[in-house]
Amino acid sequence: MAHLVGKRITLVMTALALGLAAAGSAANAEDLDGRLTGVLHAAGFSGQVEARLPARLGRPVNRQLADLGRLLWFDTSGGLHSDNTCGGCHSPANGFGDSQSIAIGVQNNNRVGPNRAGPRNQRRTPTAVNTAFYPKLMWNGRFAALSGDPFDNSAGYSFPQPEGTSRFPPYDPIVTHLLIAQAHIPPTELVEVAGFTGTKGTIGPEFDQFDDGLGSVVPLPDASGFRNEPIRQAVLERLNSTPAYRRKFGALFPAVAAGGAIDFIMFGRAIAEFEFTLVFANAPIDRYARGEKSALSESQKRGALIFFGKGKCVQCHAVAGQSNEMFSDFQMHVIGVPQLAPAFGVGKGNVIFDGPGRNEDFGLEQITGNPADRYKFRSSPLRNVALQPAFFHNGAFTRLEDAIRHHLDVFLSVRDYDPITAGVDNDLTLPIGPMAPVLARLDPLLATPIGLGPEEFRNLLAFVREGLLDERARKEHLCRLVPRAVPSGFPVLQFEGCPRRGGESE
Ligand code: HEC
Ligand code: HEC
Repeated sequence: MAHLVGKRITLVMTALALGLAAAGSAANAEDLDGRLTGVLHAAGFSGQVEARLPARLGRPVNRQLADLGRLLWFDTSGGLHSDNTCGGCHSPANGFGDSQSIAIGVQNNNRVGPNRAGPRNQRRTPTAVNTAFYPKLMWNGRFAALSGDPFDNSAGYSFPQPEGTSRFPPYDPIVTHLLIAQAHIPPTELVEVAGFTGTKGTIGPEFDQFDDGLGSVVPLPDASGFRNEPIRQAVLERLNSTPAYRRKFGALFPAVAAGGAIDFIMFGRAIAEFEFTLVFANAPIDRYARGEKSALSESQKRGALIFFGKGKCVQCHAVAGQSNEMFSDFQMHVIGVPQLAPAFGVGKGNVIFDGPGRNEDFGLEQITGNPADRYKFRSSPLRNVALQPAFFHNGAFTRLEDAIRHHLDVFLSVRDYDPITAGVDNDLTLPIGPMAPVLARLDPLLATPIGLGPEEFRNLLAFVREGLLDERARKEHLCRLVPRAVPSGFPVLQFEGCPRRGGESE
């Protein structure tokens, strides 16, 4: 008897447990959505940032101006030796970011992709997508809107010398966005676009030399004063002597139609306008925040809770206020990224790196001169990060999971780091630069390892990889922006990641 009663009780309890489990999973899902919605709200995330672009600009995007910017983006006529242009490094096959771990600029093989070859610069090219919303640009934040808002020039835009704070002063009626100012810079960069000959070096005595591509390091002529302006004038001469550009600028700028010269502000406005069309900030996380509960999978939701919670990610990859929901606080931190450097010399690198071994990157210190800022880099905005072939300022990792795992235990990651297993290109597999001084400055937020179980890690990865990806940033959509021909008539770079060049005609 007692035996039978016992059995019955077991049966009842099993049935009860099963019922509870079913009800529990529904309640769990609700609870998951309830928790995540609350967390996003508390973090200041609305999923509305893209929709606000025209309001922030105070006008709609001008498609004709943007299209001119697109042609300039892909036209090597902006380089004094016609061998590079924005698109050579900011590739449509990679969300308008690098196809390499460290950018290759001038003297390249006219290819963009894994087989691009030529002297390396110092850092990986970040994506240009969504830069319209960045209050600070570059790995060390050196181009900044002093108002904290790229759409607001009331405090002016700040650049390192020679532009400084006076070149783009407060309340300029035309330079009304940080990207208009930014576009003044790349064409003047010797290693990126301009090339070496016929220019003057001012960055510092150690930069007054270059690899001439023939095996010798040659001092630049006349290392004095301002070199950027003469380069811009030379670029403008090239544009002004191209009839197709005169027509296209003339259709947009009455001064050019009336016979006046194309100036650099016009160039900057066209480029910036193109960048405004590269806003792709409608990812699953945005749709979810706007109420579409099925936009994220359960795993991505759990990953999001880790991102905004015990993973501490949001403490640097912030979404509130001036971060414009870009997953960056736009502050500089030391996170202990292994220090890669190419050898300097023919076909290797054309930038002399920092430190006694010339194999370091001092990051923010390069700009402030303050040793306390050594090895600090900007928290990377994380939208569309899945489209990158490499991660961090030097592409030290080529798998997203490795880049995330690095944060979880920086000391272990550095101890075990091997450039070959990390998957970087052969020319970057030299022994890495010193790490003890980097780790000594590690951001306190990452000083203690963050413990995540394997499933938690998979969820976090799923959130970062898919939850932050706007499908429109994929190459399937962006490759069609590559023009078949450009106004200068120069050959268009060959994009290995794009199935076929063009689609849209000039
Ligand atoms: C040689 C490769 C190269 C070329 C060519 C190039 N860039 Fe870049 N770009 C970079 C690298 C590398 C960085 C980051 C540099 C750093 O932080 O020190 C960058 C940064 C940027 C940024 C800031 C992105 C961010 O996340 O803050 C913008 C915007 C940009 N470039 C636009 C352009 C435009 C416009 C052109 C053409 C006029 C251009 N670039 C040409 C390599 C290149
Ligand atoms: C202390 C601030 C800080 C915290 C906390 C932090 N990050 Fe980062 N993260 C950075 C910085 C700074 C960089 C860029 C470092 C560099 O390139 O030198 C970065 C880069 C990245 C990158 C590479 C992006 C790219 O463009 O290459 C990923 C992915 C990333 N973080 C994900 C995460 C995740 C996920 C978490 C939470 C587990 C996290 N981060 C926590 C500061 C932080």
